[in-house]
Amino acid sequence: MNLKDLFINYFVENGHKQIPSAPVVPENDPSVLFNTAGMQPLIPYLMGEEHPYGTRLCDYQKCIRTNDLDEVGDKTHHTFFEMLGNWSLGDYFKKESITYSFNFLTKVLNIPTERLAVTVYGGGIVPYDQEAHDLWLSLGISEGHIASTVEDNFWAAGDVGPCGTDTEIFYFRSDDDIPEVFDTEDDRWVEIWNNVFMQFNRNVDGSIVDLPKKNVDTGMGYERVLAVLEGVDDNYKTSLWKPIISTIEEVSGKSYLGNEESIRIIADHIRTAVFISADYAGIKPSNTDQGYILRRLIRRAIRHAKKLDIDINSNWDSRIALSIIDEYKKYYKELNDNKDIVIEVLKNEKEKFNRTLEKGLREFEKRAGSDIDALTAFHLYDTYGFPIELTVELANEKGINVDIEGFKVKFKEHQELSRTASAGKFKGGLAGDSIIETKYHTATHLLNAALKVVVNKDCHQKGSNITTERMRFDFSCDHKLTDDEKIKVENLVNEWIKDDLVVTKKEMSKEDAIKSGAECMFIEKYPDIVTVYSIGDVSHELCGGPHVESTGCLGTFKIKKEEASSAGVRRIKAVLE
Ligand code: ALA
Repeated sequence: MNLKDLFINYFVENGHKQIPSAPVVPENDPSVLFNTAGMQPLIPYLMGEEHPYGTRLCDYQKCIRTNDLDEVGDKTHHTFFEMLGNWSLGDYFKKESITYSFNFLTKVLNIPTERLAVTVYGGGIVPYDQEAHDLWLSLGISEGHIASTVEDNFWAAGDVGPCGTDTEIFYFRSDDDIPEVFDTEDDRWVEIWNNVFMQFNRNVDGSIVDLPKKNVDTGMGYERVLAVLEGVDDNYKTSLWKPIISTIEEVSGKSYLGNEESIRIIADHIRTAVFISADYAGIKPSNTDQGYILRRLIRRAIRHAKKLDIDINSNWDSRIALSIIDEYKKYYKELNDNKDIVIEVLKNEKEKFNRTLEKGLREFEKRAGSDIDALTAFHLYDTYGFPIELTVELANEKGINVDIEGFKVKFKEHQELSRTASAGKFKGGLAGDSIIETKYHTATHLLNAALKVVVNKDCHQKGSNITTERMRFDFSCDHKLTDDEKIKVENLVNEWIKDDLVVTKKEMSKEDAIKSGAECMFIEKYPDIVTVYSIGDVSHELCGGPHVESTGCLGTFKIKKEEASSAGVRRIKAVLE
């Protein structure tokens, strides 16, 4: 049985509910570009909110960490990984958590106890974790295999938020005799699992306070454990990668042996690009945020495909993507559902980059007699689409430097110029605008609800667009609205505005949201935990917000136009006055 299934089965048997993997882009946390740990989508629940699935959870979560993107190419670095995790939200604590982990490793995976070693918190914020130490000892871990650290045994996802001391579990990956004393600096010991005792919250000012409940948050790297169990010392040699690496060997006509670096980079980067572009978040390559990471990944993969003499115009990229999708689709349905999108994203980006890659590389060669100055680096970025990291990589291969700081200055100047240009085009200050847009968001929900009451309960939203000037709303309807219907809709919305209905927000599972009858456009596009906005009891909709606190501030709602949008779809333009 697959390790993921073993893990989930084990925790489900022990009273946990499996929660689905959240999208790769965090929904309510703009501080990070991607989910980097299994706990990230659970932060509100670790902070004390009630989880719709209960107090014992487990999952495998898609994670993306890009801080080591440029390290990818060796045996162990990846930009994408799956984290297996189990959580107690104010339910069990150290004893059960440690016992579950120990039993899973030794009884389910049959790892001999003597191959395991652990670290516990060495003391500082709270005293030395004697309890964890004693628990491990009682389970059969020898005294010599229990070490402690301070730095590495305190875990937090970021500078603020839930955090706690932890105990880490290591596996001895070597044919050498197992040392009696565990040395955390000895890299034959590989960390495989981290159990965090999440009982604190770190505030913005750095102070640490107790959380309302004591939680457990654990994380186990799927691929790392797979490599351990399969006895390989190169993560890319596990059964997981075999068919993917074979596909790369086929499309390049080169063997893995001797071409490891480029093949690993292509494998890793295309995999992450597949997971990002198949995600319901709908990320496309761009020059900012997640889109820029996606662009960098694809472009770096293309550069390495070129190094392997792969014909860039061939379908090499979609063949590799499809073998990745095949490998993962059983666990991540979205990969198969969005297969065409993934292939399209790769193809478009490839065509875009391929137009300038050749010329850019020639330009680089011309300038590479000495260090690359800021202007050249910016020219390569701006004219030839070379992400700065790619220029740095090329320069490293030549043993020359790039003026990265100078590039950043040029980049910023350029950004400011384009920002000024677009501000000129669209006019107006942002601060005031967003309030009116928020009002239109709430009014859209009211209109959606009023149409159901006045016209037909089967009027469903088909589209919506909001500017600072007006709202536009498309909905399914088989006839042109009569004047009487329009007046009734307007009156009803205005009545609800006068009633000053309170807008409330609630997170719940997608299933519960559907059961509760909440309105939504494309249910399959939503993550598994959703936000439902309710307006009094007249409207319940899945929505990311933002909304006003109560409807009283919306002013007067007026329909300006009602027209056909497409077959069976009508369009209303309306304003708040
Ligand atoms: N959140 C913990 C980690 O990522 C389990 O290591």
